[in-house]
This record gives sequence, structure tokens and C-alpha cells, in this order.
Amino acid sequence: MLKIAVLVSGGGTNLQALIDAQKNGIIRNGRICCVISGKEGAYALERAKQNDIPAYVVARKSYSSVADFDHALTEKLKEAGADVVVLAGFLSILGDEILSVFENQIINIHPSLIPSFCGSGYYGLRVHEEALKYGVKVTGATVHFVSKVVDGGAIIAQKAVEVKDGDTPEILQRRVMEQAEWVILPRAVSLFCDGKLKVENGKVLILE
Ligand code: GRF
Repeated sequence: MLKIAVLVSGGGTNLQALIDAQKNGIIRNGRICCVISGKEGAYALERAKQNDIPAYVVARKSYSSVADFDHALTEKLKEAGADVVVLAGFLSILGDEILSVFENQIINIHPSLIPSFCGSGYYGLRVHEEALKYGVKVTGATVHFVSKVVDGGAIIAQKAVEVKDGDTPEILQRRVMEQAEWVILPRAVSLFCDGKLKVENGKVLILE
């Protein structure tokens, strides 16, 4: 059974999708061992408590440098014995230490079809605002391994979602979550825990 650490900063609906997937057997070979929030008071912490999952806060602003924050986060994850780290709406950029200690073990969900509408500054509603501004007819979500390049790591899974006339960023965000994020994130974590993901030449192979 692999230990899954989930890093959050906000409402935690993707965390909820992982908790549900664990309960209903979509994730069979992993268990959420802890939730770490980058912010005090994030509702995701409440979700962890309700499900008896140990929850901690490691906030960037409590540390004087990125390196100190990076080290504290890495130590917490080591202490928890994490085998895989899932960024489920975690807003702080990761440092070098965590990326090297957990190489190809950190999974992120991004609410667009990478390489569109991604990279530095593309988070939250901004992603959907830009998609609507551009006028794309299809958007979606991407699950990928985390590398030093923001939103640039090897892609594990993607799912397309239709953009509809009259969409607001909020409506589109909700549709992308419901139809894509909450589906492909648990599925990707499940594949990882089943030992079915292999990174080769910067690309993910899904083993049968
Ligand atoms: C999601 O849109 C996710 O793709 C992005 O941040 C948001 C987090 O939402 N990285 P939640 O906290 O899981 O509800």
C-alpha cells in the first residue's frame, strides 16, 4: 500500500475526489497518509479532519526563504513516509530539494489542456478567463508529473471539456472540475499506486 500525501491551498474539491476514490475502490493500492496545506484555514483542512486524515500547515510565509520552506516541506513529507505527493490546488511553487527527493513522484492537476493556458501565473480562474478570451471551443484538464518547468513535466492524462456559449470563468471552471479534474486525478493516482506509470525520455508510458 503506497502512502499518498496531498498538498492543498484552497477548497479541496480535488482532495475530496481522492478521498472518495479511496472509499469506493478506484484507488486500491494507496492510502492518503496526510494533507498539507500551504495556507492556514483552507477548507481542505476541514475535509481532512472529517475523514480522520492527519493534516498540517506548511505556509510559505512562515519561512524567510524559498529554500527554508522547501526544506520544511520535504522533511514533513519524509516524516509522513510519503511515496507519492499529489498537488491538488497547491499554490506555492516547489523548490529544488523536494523536486530531487521526490523525482517523478509528484503529481499535479492543471485545469487546461497543457500546453495551452499554463505556466507561471496561470492558476485558478485566470486559466478559464484566458481560455474564454481566446475563444477556444474545447478546454479540459491535465495531470502531469512535476518538474522544474512550471506545468512542464511529463503528461500522465488529459481530458477534454466543451466550452459553451455564454460560459463565465466560474461556470467553465466548475464544468472542467466535474467532467475532467475529479475524474482524471484519482485515476492517475490509482495508476501510480498500481505501479503502472513509467517515465521514459521525458514521456509517461502507461504499462498494461
Ligand atoms: C483546481 O482547479 C486545480 O486544477 C487547480 O486548483 C484548483 C483547486 O481546487 N490546480 P480545489 O482546491 O481542489 O477545489
